[in-house]
Amino acid sequence: MSDKTSDLKQKHKPMHGTAKAKGCSHLQLGNFCKMFPELHSWGDEYGIEDQCKAENIAAALGGINSIMHDINSDSPDSSIPAAYTFLAQFIDHDLTLDTTSNLHGEPLDNAEVSHLPNLRSASLDLDNIYGFGPDASPFLYDQSQPGRMLIGNENNQNDVPRNSDGRALIGDPRNDENIFLSQMQLLFLRFHNRRIIGRSFEEAQIDVRYHYQYIVLKDFLKRICDENVYNYALSELGSGHFPKCDIRDKCGRICMPVEFSVAAYRFGHSLVRSQYPTNSNYPVIDLFDERFGTEGFGFVPSELTVDWRFLLDVESCHDYVKSKAFDHLLADELIRMPDPIVGRFASDNDRSLAFRNLLRGYALGLPSGQSVAAALADKGYPVNELQSLQFSNMYGWNCLDSDTRCSLERHTPLFLYIMRESGVVNEGRRLGPVGSAILMEVFGAILVYCDSFLNKDWEPDPCIVGDGTLTLADIVRYVNK
Ligand code: HEM
Repeated sequence: MSDKTSDLKQKHKPMHGTAKAKGCSHLQLGNFCKMFPELHSWGDEYGIEDQCKAENIAAALGGINSIMHDINSDSPDSSIPAAYTFLAQFIDHDLTLDTTSNLHGEPLDNAEVSHLPNLRSASLDLDNIYGFGPDASPFLYDQSQPGRMLIGNENNQNDVPRNSDGRALIGDPRNDENIFLSQMQLLFLRFHNRRIIGRSFEEAQIDVRYHYQYIVLKDFLKRICDENVYNYALSELGSGHFPKCDIRDKCGRICMPVEFSVAAYRFGHSLVRSQYPTNSNYPVIDLFDERFGTEGFGFVPSELTVDWRFLLDVESCHDYVKSKAFDHLLADELIRMPDPIVGRFASDNDRSLAFRNLLRGYALGLPSGQSVAAALADKGYPVNELQSLQFSNMYGWNCLDSDTRCSLERHTPLFLYIMRESGVVNEGRRLGPVGSAILMEVFGAILVYCDSFLNKDWEPDPCIVGDGTLTLADIVRYVNK
């Protein structure tokens, strides 16, 4: 056990170390909320008078040919393997789902935000794999082998289970939104089916969840977060002074802060590339490839079965692609999202994920990046409000009128601030301090208040761990053994 892990466990045992962790249990759904309810919304700070103005700004920053559109694929690589982009998306679909708020609606106030239901449990419990369990979600489970997850379909055994229309039978339908995410789902289904050998369903589920949570904290967050903020959060977690904000509702359930779900945790959108390898026969396919009909939510052709060695450090001598940089640029595939994701009648703006992220931020009353930076610094995070986001270096910036430029420099929408900060402070290799602090705060709260390996005397199975800390590549190697 590393010193840091042992520290975290000792400090947290007295508070949360009994059989049932306080605060939340798995499969309890909660609502959204604000991490910093006292802050004004960006719309108020900026002085947005009407919806039309908000839509125009979101389009100028995030529409087609806008500042956030990586038109010429200029954005460089980050330092992390491409598979982590899809792990990031997979984790998101374990934590947040808003189907209620209105993208084009008037901005909600704090009370209205706190009434929005989050349709995923805000805990790292893999409800995107297990659904509501074998009794309540039997269509996910293999009836001939109790406790095992269904895998494969008549077209492809290396695919998720599907009905005859090709619709995935999985815990969260969004995990079939692109083939890499769908294959990530398959990886975790397979992992469960390996871990159930010699265990009851409940034992296997806990075992899988703890391995997954361990990877989230020790592998994923360590790779993507600003190093100072990550180390600070870990040491505060170790001394029992964490999390810094209380994001539990009156019933003690974690609510999902919109600063996380609508801004910071959408960082992954900047990591997405337009093209990826899938295996040695298909070294380059589009993320949504019309040639194969893989534009989301359909059968994965067997020839496209993902060989993770092309996207992850599974073998030392194998080349793999990296995620795109943590920056303000989104790949063309995400600026022109296809019909299966946005619907046939979507406008050009609504097809752009950058536009949607910015407008959704306005609709949910998110504060500016500058205000959040100051609020995090007040909580003790090693975060400084950036004096310059170096906007003038961004393609298209000078096409905005000078009033807009001036206001945006002082009051930047949180999503844009976080992505720009990552590019400026950490040169696109990792998230910047503000984005990292929001992530550590929410993941920290989840691990402290919900049932997690941190609350238990638990270590990853040495049969799975390679050299050093458990990583995603260890899971791939273990499942393929
Ligand atoms: C791979 C391609 C991806 C596509 C096509 C995609 C698409 C979308 C779409 C259409 C939305 C809804 C946007 C809105 O109307 O507000 C969304 C939401 C979201 N995405 Fe992505 N996404 C992708 C990858 C990722 C990744 C890698 C991450 C993780 C870091 C991520 C995190 C999120 C989050 C947190 C939300 C909000 C979910 C909610 O609370 O409902 N996405 N994404």
